[in-house]
Amino acid sequence: MDRTLTIGDLAARSGVAPSALRYYERIGLIRAGRTGGNQRRYDRTELRRVAFIRIAQQIGVPLDEIRQALDELPESRTPTKADWARLSQRWQARLDERIALLTRLRDDLTGCIGCGCLSLRSCTLYNPADQLAAAGPGPRILLDGG
Ligand code: FES
Repeated sequence: MDRTLTIGDLAARSGVAPSALRYYERIGLIRAGRTGGNQRRYDRTELRRVAFIRIAQQIGVPLDEIRQALDELPESRTPTKADWARLSQRWQARLDERIALLTRLRDDLTGCIGCGCLSLRSCTLYNPADQLAAAGPGPRILLDGG
């Protein structure tokens, strides 16, 4: 069985548009071979890299950092489970922060979040005279976990 994929195959299976796949290749996130007619052919293992990129983006990892992480994967063999585990471990703390933020968002979005609007009755209790502005921009109660 031919294990390589065309760009259309990769797009269909990964859910990522061909234009984005070409961009990923251009900035070194994924690799493609070429046929004699100069058409891209991807090894099936690239699907895993694309999935990794998408998930990392969803947890807010910048593309530069994703590339650094992917650069640590071995070039000469298919990455193993241990390789992938090492890679995802480095983002454990970021994931924990993200989970905590989403939990606060779920629990606190209906109350004062310290955004400076002072539009809710509870704001005079939690953020009188917008004192939280001194802590920086954005919804301070939500971001600071307070
Ligand atoms: S919700 Fe905006 S300052 Fe309280």
